[in-house]
Order: sequence, then C-alpha cells, then structure tokens
Amino acid sequence: MKLDNKVAVVTGGSSGIGKAAAVMLAKRGVRVALVARREDVLEEAVVEVSEFGSGVGYACDVSDEAQVCEMAQHVAGDLGAVDILINNAGFAIYGSVESLSASEIRAQMETNYFGAVHCTKAFLDQMLARRSGKIVNVASVAASFGLPGMAAYCASKFAMLGFSEALRGELHGTGVGVTVVSPIAVRTPFFEHESFANIPRYSPMSLSAEKVARAIVGAIGSSRGEVTVPGVARVAVWTRHTLPHLVDYFVSSAFRKTLRGSS
Ligand SMILES: NC(=O)c1ccc[n+]([C@@H]2O[C@H](COP(=O)([O-])OP(=O)(O)OC[C@H]3O[C@@H](n4cnc5c(N)ncnc54)[C@H](OP(=O)(O)O)[C@@H]3O)[C@@H](O)[C@H]2O)c1
Repeated sequence: MKLDNKVAVVTGGSSGIGKAAAVMLAKRGVRVALVARREDVLEEAVVEVSEFGSGVGYACDVSDEAQVCEMAQHVAGDLGAVDILINNAGFAIYGSVESLSASEIRAQMETNYFGAVHCTKAFLDQMLARRSGKIVNVASVAASFGLPGMAAYCASKFAMLGFSEALRGELHGTGVGVTVVSPIAVRTPFFEHESFANIPRYSPMSLSAEKVARAIVGAIGSSRGEVTVPGVARVAVWTRHTLPHLVDYFVSSAFRKTLRGSS
C-alpha cells in the first residue's frame, strides 16, 4: 500500500509505541488520527507529530463502544475514510490472579481486547466498501506464553491473537488485511504503572519504541499474519508451540521467581 496521503487511526497514539508509529507514519505523508484518553498528553503528542506531518487528536476510551463510534464519526468527518487502523492501546497490571481484583482483570480485557474489537468494528465496513484497508493489531510475545504475574494481560493478548487470525481468514479476498505485531519488552511508560514498582523493568534486550514502530509500518504492507519483534523471537514462539512442556518449565519458573520476589 502506498502510504502518502492515506488516513491512519493509531489507538494509544499519545505515548510509547503508538506515538513513535504516529510520528513515523506522519513522516511518510500519512494523515494520522491519534486516539487516547488523557487530553493533555494527547495534545502534546499531536504537537510532536505535527512537526513531521499531519496529526489530529481524538480523546476516546477504546473500551467504551459508544465513545469509539463517536470518535469514528469525527475521524470520518475530519479526515475521510480510514485506510489503516493500528489497534495499539493497551496496558497491564502486574500481580498474581489471587491478588488482582476481578475488575482489574476485566479492565485489561476491556481495553486490550475489546478496545481493538470496538475499533475494528467501527472502521471495517468502510474498508470493505472500498475493498482496501489494513488492520495492524499490536499484541505481544505474551500472546504466546502464559506468564505468571501477567495472567490477565496474557489472556487479553491471546484473545487478540486468536481474533486477528480468525478475522484475517474471514477477510481473505476482500482487499482488507490483518497483521499482528508482537514485540518483546519495550522501553515505554507502559511499566510506570505502580504494580510494576517492585520488579525489574527493562532487560538489556528490551527494545526502543521506534524499533517496534518500524515493524508496525512494515506490517502495513505485509501479507504475514504475525510479525514478532525482533524477528528472532519467532524461534521462541515456535519452540513454545513445539516443545510446550520444556519451554513452560523454564519460562514459568523465571516469571514465578520474579512474582514471588515482588511480594
Ligand atoms: N512496552 C512493552 O514492553 C510492550 C511489549 C509488548 C506489547 N506492548 C503493547 O504495546 C501497546 C502500546 O504500549 P506502550 O508500551 O506504548 O505503552 P504506553 O506508553 O503506556 O502507551 C499506551 C497508550 O495507550 C493509551 N491507552 C491506554 N488505555 C486506553 C484506553 N482505554 N483507551 C484509549 N487509549 C488508551 C494510553 O493513553 P491514555 O492512558 O491517555 O489513554 C497510551 O497512549 C500496548 O497494547 C501494549 O500491550 C507493549
């Protein structure tokens, strides 16, 4: 897909990976709608994006279907039909299932999974009508591993991965594509949530938001179902599916140790 003058919606566009993707798309001539809840942070991101191209902010909680419908109407009125949807808004609350409340678990699913569902439903019709469009869903390698301390987050990303795979199958031959981008840990404000206060935040392997943004922009033109970032993480995902007992043993023990050390 040629990007110049296309319209993209980036949820979670005010921070971290979403903001880096919005900047990168604006630099390529894409007119970008940035979506997030906190208006002050959103406004700052819009100013940053506007230095490189066209960016407009829309304050919206993606977990609220009515707000998403309203946002979609405003985007259509301001920018026209949407060519690219980047479902990126998301957050995590760290902690054992025993310690998290049901509403903390539900909130992660409402934003990370249903937020993507609401936005997909809000923009899919117009993409199908034009027989052209791309949906990029930002999941995580946590969509392939059940990590102690991250059960609710993993569940939301497993759900996003399954939804994306099925949707991609449904949309075959329609001109609308779906690709999931699954990064390992990324250095963003994601880990500023108080629940991460007692655990090591970044490993030396953690990525910059710009590296993931490049993968997101690459995914727009890709026919692949899932892109891991870095690409070599695909080996870990493949091994997890091929030798689940072995991988679960090592990964689960490492995360369990961190979880126990944090409480
Ligand atoms: N950082 C990592 O290590 C990592 C690794 C793999 C995958 N990811 C995924 O990458 C995505 C982006 O994360 P990030 O690291 O860039 O985190 P971030 O810097 O904390 O950015 C999250 C963005 O999502 C927005 N957001 C959160 N809840 C929202 C809601 N209900 N409605 C609308 N916007 C909402 C935030 O703005 P407001 O709070 O103002 O709404 C913010 O713009 C997430 O889906 C995350 O799961 C992150």
